[in-house]
Amino acid sequence: MSSSSFRNRHRDSSPAGAPGRKRSQFTYRHFNQMASYNTSCPLRVVAHLDLDCFYAQVEMVRLGIPEDKPLAVQQWERQGLIAVNYPARAFKIGRHCTVTEARRLCPELIAQHVATWREGDDKWAYREDAAEHIATDKVSLDPYRLESRRIMRVIKEHLPGGGLQKVEKASIDEVFLDLTAHVHQVMLERYGEELGGPPPYGDVSEELPMPAVTALDWKADALVDLGEGDRQEGEFDDPDWDDVALLVASEIVRNVRGVIREKLGYSCSAGVSRNKLLSKLGSAHKKPNQQTVIRNRAVGHFLSGFKFTKIRNLGGKLGEQVADAFKTEAVSDLLTVPIEQLRQKLGDENGVWIYETLRGIDTSEVNSGTQIKSMLSAKSFRPDITTVEQATKWLRIFAADIFARLVEEGVLEHKRRPKTINLHHRHGNQTRSRSGPIPARLLNEESLFELAKNLFHQITLEGDTWPCSNLSLSVAGFEEGVSGNMGIDSFLVKGDEARVLKSSESARTSSSKEALDTSTRQQPAAKRRRIDGAGGGIQRFLTTKREPSQDTRTTAPEDDLVRRNSGEAKLGTSKTYVASGMGWPGEPLPEEAQADSRRSPITPHACSRCDANLGGPEELQSHLDWHFAKDLQEEEEERVSQAFANRQASTAVNNARAGSQKGAAAASSASASGSNKSTGRSKKKPERGQSKLNFG
Ligand code: CTP
Ligand code: CA
Ligand code: CA
Repeated sequence: MSSSSFRNRHRDSSPAGAPGRKRSQFTYRHFNQMASYNTSCPLRVVAHLDLDCFYAQVEMVRLGIPEDKPLAVQQWERQGLIAVNYPARAFKIGRHCTVTEARRLCPELIAQHVATWREGDDKWAYREDAAEHIATDKVSLDPYRLESRRIMRVIKEHLPGGGLQKVEKASIDEVFLDLTAHVHQVMLERYGEELGGPPPYGDVSEELPMPAVTALDWKADALVDLGEGDRQEGEFDDPDWDDVALLVASEIVRNVRGVIREKLGYSCSAGVSRNKLLSKLGSAHKKPNQQTVIRNRAVGHFLSGFKFTKIRNLGGKLGEQVADAFKTEAVSDLLTVPIEQLRQKLGDENGVWIYETLRGIDTSEVNSGTQIKSMLSAKSFRPDITTVEQATKWLRIFAADIFARLVEEGVLEHKRRPKTINLHHRHGNQTRSRSGPIPARLLNEESLFELAKNLFHQITLEGDTWPCSNLSLSVAGFEEGVSGNMGIDSFLVKGDEARVLKSSESARTSSSKEALDTSTRQQPAAKRRRIDGAGGGIQRFLTTKREPSQDTRTTAPEDDLVRRNSGEAKLGTSKTYVASGMGWPGEPLPEEAQADSRRSPITPHACSRCDANLGGPEELQSHLDWHFAKDLQEEEEERVSQAFANRQASTAVNNARAGSQKGAAAASSASASGSNKSTGRSKKKPERGQSKLNFG
């Protein structure tokens, strides 16, 4: 039910027991639903927080630069800026500017280069001369990722625990908070008299009494107004419980923003409303350092001013399709289109989804449990590299990079671990890759490096190695709660690995469908789920979930690890999730692709592979990861299936007892070459996942 129809339904009702006295539109049941995060609860309250000019703020805090000084974050010499603080924006400096242009606009601009990894080094660092070293350096966004995790941690520590907290990291600088249960508790404490008692006649479908308050103090919040047209329900109506819930939520959000500011020095903006869709639009409404509340009664007016292409999930192909079908981008134009017509032109599911979205209805959940599914470290070489020594230096960086991120992921505490390692190599237009399992006991930086070298060695055996224009190393197939048992099991194909193979099997049969269907990533959740189910799950194969929260992890980082973000980090980590540039002639190299997407003011997060427009940098990364997974899958399914089939036939036991370096090399060699010469390993009864495998 849309909020306005909901609102009007009970407007003049005079329920039994209170003749003549206005009752709330909400029932006892609605209020109770708040405690269980029911996503269709009409009293739901969701907030979205987005850090102001995030990378720029990180640099300012790190360097102790006063807030009123203009600063921008730079990547290489001639590319666009990647973040611009608000004082610099006052000079009309934007992401599209190069450093030179920006300096022309504002000579006193502080331009800070991002941290980089350097060929041959094993940690990232801020370097004076990074801008001229595009050939030997690789951008590290780690400082920002680490700060992002600190922010998450502060938020989680500040909010009450137990069942009262639901926090989703939506991108490197964004979180969603479902505050409904928390607000429910505060309302019970504050308005116990009205809300705490049993419903009349014990009937939860009875309407609540109206709140005793007649005016709410919204403090400094930007309150979206109601517009001229909305006479049915205006400012003169008394506040109802949904307004009270939003007021309580906005207090909580103001406090959260306050702690982030106080403890870490960062300002952010927020949107507070009844769902993710509206809150996300709200946080961008007034920036910097402000929060916008969209009361239910203001939703219609708020949304009618937008182009629908600005709405979450409508920035891409689906949005274009709608614009084409109805020759408009304005929400207000589409509000008059009947649902039947939307269904007819866009299909049942999309039609209904759009109909609801335009009316601010969104029941998608705030997901606190999303976890990373793969990690990729890559470099495109300009100029190409030509020697084993060079390649080896990069493999060392990739291994250090990935391992440091694994440590944050809790790998040392055996919380999670990846089970496969993959190496991609590009020579001219030809991309080759090798993959192998990662035995649990070999999960350390040195062994990852050895595994990577071994995979590389196998690729070189085929010839045609040089010049090499791109190398990338990734780990995937994450498994939960590995106990630290370093036994022979780690050599077997089971659990996730088996599922990985299984999904690669089924994806083979459906890959053409999926290949055509890149636009599904832009579509409503229900639609995507359906396709996932049918398609066999490319996303399960290697990389990344497709929601923007790809980099979200529930486990909090070690703070000292996080605090190493000071320029002299001992153990650095880096992320280059960009996976494009593999096998597509003429396509931008990964770092160029990143830069391009930052430069374009119109579609700042466009995918260079399929024209999809993504909602943010992390979404773009996730999306590119998805392409990567798909490409990798297509290239490797034959080889990998074969390799694992062989391994299955002769399970590895002896190697489990061998020395770690030797074991690492042997394991990766065996699985990746596809010609496993078994060394007399004894058989073990296949586990459940294994026996189901079916290699065609
Ligand atoms: N980012 C990027 N490339 C883009 C968009 C964003 O590298 N095309 C980075 C920015 O450097 C930014 C961070 O991702 O700091 C978050 O992006 P976003 O929230 O869009 O911008 P902010 O710089 O935080 O600015 P705002 O105050 O408008 O949120
Ligand atoms: Ca931001
Ligand atoms: Ca953002």
